[in-house]
Formats: sequence, C-alpha cells, structure tokens
Amino acid sequence: MNDQARLALSEPETFLDQEAVHQIFTELRRDDPVAWCPETDGGLGFWSITKYDDIQAISKNPKVFSSDRLLGGITLESAEMRRRRQNLENASKDEVSGGGSIITSGSSMIMMDPPTHTQHRRMVAPGFTPGRLNALIPEIRTRCVEILENIAGRGECEFVSAVAAELPIQMLAELLGVEQEDRKKLFEWSNIMIGGDDPDMRIGRDEVMAVFGELFQYSVALRTSRQENPGDDLISMLVNTEMNGEPMELADYVSAFILLVVAGNETTRNSISGGILALSQHPEERQKLIDDPSLIPDAIDEIIRWVAPVVYMRRTALEDTKVGEKIIKKGDRLALWYMSGNRDEDKWDDPFSFNVTRNGPRHLSFGYGQHLCIGWRLAEIQLTVCLEELLKRFPDITVTGEVARMRSNFLNSIKRMQVRYSG
Ligand code: HEM
Repeated sequence: MNDQARLALSEPETFLDQEAVHQIFTELRRDDPVAWCPETDGGLGFWSITKYDDIQAISKNPKVFSSDRLLGGITLESAEMRRRRQNLENASKDEVSGGGSIITSGSSMIMMDPPTHTQHRRMVAPGFTPGRLNALIPEIRTRCVEILENIAGRGECEFVSAVAAELPIQMLAELLGVEQEDRKKLFEWSNIMIGGDDPDMRIGRDEVMAVFGELFQYSVALRTSRQENPGDDLISMLVNTEMNGEPMELADYVSAFILLVVAGNETTRNSISGGILALSQHPEERQKLIDDPSLIPDAIDEIIRWVAPVVYMRRTALEDTKVGEKIIKKGDRLALWYMSGNRDEDKWDDPFSFNVTRNGPRHLSFGYGQHLCIGWRLAEIQLTVCLEELLKRFPDITVTGEVARMRSNFLNSIKRMQVRYSG
C-alpha cells in the first residue's frame, strides 16, 4: 500500500467515493491491519485500525485508549477543521455573552473516560431503558405514517429531507421534551456541527458565532425551565441529577445537549437513507422483505453493518503499548475504522454482499465497550418501523439519479437522494 492511499484516509474528499475507500481498507486489512497513516498540512499522523477484533479490543480498554476531550477527543480533524476550530476558540475567548467560550470548553460523555464517563452516562440512561423505548413504538409509528402519507401520491420526492431526516428529528424533539416546531433549529445546529468539511454546509466564522449564541441561549433557557418544572425528558435528567452532590456544570451541560442533538439524529437519518439506497440497489433483497416483513427487524442489523453511519472513532494511547505487531507510543492517535471492521473477511462470509438474512457477529456501527451507543435500540426501532411502513406503501421505491454525499471522513452521510415510487 503506497503512502498516497494512507494519506487519502485523512482527506474528507476520499470518502465521496465509497468503493475507493473500501478498496483501501481491504488492502490494509490484508497487508497492514495496524497501519501508520501520515496526514498533510501539519497533522501528526495516526494509526489506522482496520480489523474487527482489534477495534473491539481497543474499544474495551479505556485505561490505555482514551476518548478524553483534552487529548483531542474522538475525531481526527482535517487540516481545514483544525484551522476553523482554532479560529473559533480564539473568537470565543474575546466574546462575552454569546456562550461560544462555554460551548468550546465543556465535555460530554463521549469525550470522557471512566469513572467520570460512567457518572455522566448514568444521568441519561433511564431515558434509554428497553421498557421506555418499547413504550415509544406506537408514537414512532404514528409519526412515521404521517411523514409517509405526506409523500403519498407524489410519485417522487427528495427522500432525505422528506422522510429520513424527519423521523429522527421529531423523535429527538420528543425525547428532549421540546416543542416540535423547534426541531428545525435542532436540525440546523446539528448540520452545522458536523458539516464543517462540506462546502455546501460550511458557514463563516461570524455565522458560526451567531449560531453558537443562539444554541447557548436556547439550551440555558431549557435548563432553567426544567429546573423549575422537571419532567421525565432527557434534559430534566441532565439538569436535575446530581453528581457527587453537585449539579452538572453549565459548560458540560451545554456539551451534553449538543451531543444528544447531533448523535441522535444524523446517524439515524443516514441509516434510513443508506438503507433505502442499499435496498434499491439490491431489489432481490428488498423483495425478501416485501414477501416476509417479519424479516425486517433482523434485516436492520445488515443495513447498519452495510451503511456504517459513523465511519470511525478516535482514541489516544495513554501509555506505550502494542496492537498486533505494532508498538504504539504514549500520545499516539488511533482511528477505529468501523466501516472497515464491518467488512472484515475473518468475521463474515462474503462481507461485500448485502444480504438481509445474513447471520454473523454483531456489527461495529454502534461502537463497543464503555461508549457503546446509548441510543442503539432507539435507532433500530425507528429504522424497523420506518421500513415496515414504507415497504407496505411504496414497495417499488427506487433511488433515481445522483446520491449527494456529505464531504466527510467521519460520517457516512447522504445530503440529497431523489426517489421514485408508485402509491
Ligand atoms: C444508527 C444510528 C446510530 C449510530 C450508527 C450511532 C453510533 C454511535 C457510536 C459508534 C458511538 C460510540 C462512540 C465511541 O465509542 O466513542 C455512539 C455513542 C453515542 N450515541 Fe449513538 N449512534 C446512533 C444513534 C443514536 C441515537 C438515536 C442516540 C440518542 C438519541 C445516540 C446517542 C449516543 C450517545 C449519547 C453516545 C455516547 C455514549 C457514550 O459515550 O457512552 N446515538 N453512537
């Protein structure tokens, strides 16, 4: 494998061509499963972990492989993102009331290690118990049916905005206990947080500061309202649960708010649109689900394996250690490429075929270990209900034309996708 291909993994551009990325990962799994990858433009370089077992082993060892924000957290910034973050941090230092400095200084559970991580995760865990999520199913179905009825009779639509984005954002508003009309704001903030590498979605520094100000004011007002009138929503859990006898610090609360907004909607949206794309490209697999809808819950596993909505998470080594044959130095950064682990030839037969009745190990798309996605079951329920209702109404739904992907090496995100259907 040449340096050019290794370098390509830190370039968001590369990920616009999924086949090319899978080609790089396939070669790395075969020839260099723990591969040093350089970066351009002042980046320090990182280790690419591409095999399933290595990704799992690292994920369950936070004592050695940290997610701590102060060490850089869970993403590898592109050179462009690094410049933008530094700009923002400098702008935030000068600004007094907009909340930018608080937004850039807090930490959420995803960027913490145990034991603090465990304390923060416990605060919202009651919102994700099986009983609570199962009780949401009728509401998810009602919302889903309403969304689908809105596109009925049109013959075609832009699927991401009309369907895939709508259901998760409506459910997020529900979980946070905010008005449905606020979901547009949540959607916009989430896109701004993740779209920094995409020219269509990127906004200027002043605009970002204005959005930060708005988000900050909104989250603080919500905090005050839940302190005064607690409910059983996720915000009330964050605001009214104490840790060591103290409420959560404001900066950490804002950071937790942002995490829930981003994590809870982007990923589910992309698995819905990625799932419809996969079924459209594999009509024989789609037909199996139309003929026997009881296969849908298990098919969701295959869809999420296939799509890998989160491409990787990063860790930082806290001590000198070994992964496979390679010596990892304290301070080295590692990318756990879920997108690669999900196609590991040692774990699945024929991993590059999309097979809705496949048996195999659990995919890595929700991570593993301490940070295993807290919303995994909610995402699966939404996807199941969405496919059940959608295939009932529009069994011939087919993607037509271009699939516009977000420019990112972190999220496998579809921005726009036109579909055609009868019904
Ligand atoms: C298909 C949909 C989803 C995917 C692929 C996904 C993926 C992930 C992954 C890979 C992690 C692990 C991070 C790590 O190891 O560093 C994670 C964590 C997390 N996810 Fe999800 N997620 C999805 C849906 C959701 C939903 C619906 C919610 C909430 C409403 C959510 C909330 C979170 C939170 C709060 C964490 C942090 C957990 C922790 O650090 O302990 N996710 N997610």
